[in-house]
Amino acid sequence: MWEPSSEAEVHTFIEGLQDLELDTPDTWYQLAITLRDNGILIGDCGLHFPREEPHQVEVGITLAPAHQGQGYATEALEGMMEFLFVNLGKHRVVASVDPRNEPSTALLERVGMRKEGHLRESVWVKGEWADDAIYAILEREWRLRQLSSAPSRPANRESVNRASVPKSGGSARTKCRTI
Ligand SMILES: CC(C)(COP(=O)(O)OP(=O)(O)OC[C@H]1O[C@@H](n2cnc3c(N)ncnc32)[C@H](O)[C@@H]1OP(=O)(O)O)[C@@H](O)C(=O)NCCC(=O)NCCS
Repeated sequence: MWEPSSEAEVHTFIEGLQDLELDTPDTWYQLAITLRDNGILIGDCGLHFPREEPHQVEVGITLAPAHQGQGYATEALEGMMEFLFVNLGKHRVVASVDPRNEPSTALLERVGMRKEGHLRESVWVKGEWADDAIYAILEREWRLRQLSSAPSRPANRESVNRASVPKSGGSARTKCRTI
């Protein structure tokens, strides 16, 4: 996990993203999650496009603590998955998390991702070896889930504007836009 050491480093990081094209191999593309009503920035969603796997995407998501526990991450991730599978035609979406991170594993399971692996002490984080849990969902599994199960957001909410997810998408209460 990237942990900036200063605000200046964050500015440099964001400026470096300005000219980045979505779906560029071997890059992380960063989207802001904002509240639809007032545009307040509440979190971000990272999309990693691996060099060797053009049909797969790794996702990561963070919410500001004040906005956690209200379903916003679920909405944003569901919107992102729709965009990745429908608009970008991806085959598999994957996430890698610390298995001790219960809010994250609960989120990934809530949006239909399956735990595929548990790698013991495979990453060096904050001065210790940590385990890594791999979660994933295939495009056909996501489609089946759309057809067969009730989505975690109520049916009367707005649907995602498929054509504009990177700029203005998300669900009824949140929007994802480029940082
Ligand atoms: C991972 C993270 C984004 C999850 O945030 P979260 O607030 O737990 O997730 P959501 O916004 O989807 O909210 C879910 C909670 O809201 C509740 N909720 C309320 N309305 C809801 C709705 N309409 N839909 C879904 N959940 C809803 C759920 O019951 C759940 O509550 P619970 O935690 O008591 O079970 C957050 O913990 C975080 O930013 N962590 C730090 C960064 C990190 O570790 N990222 C992992 C990388 S993948």
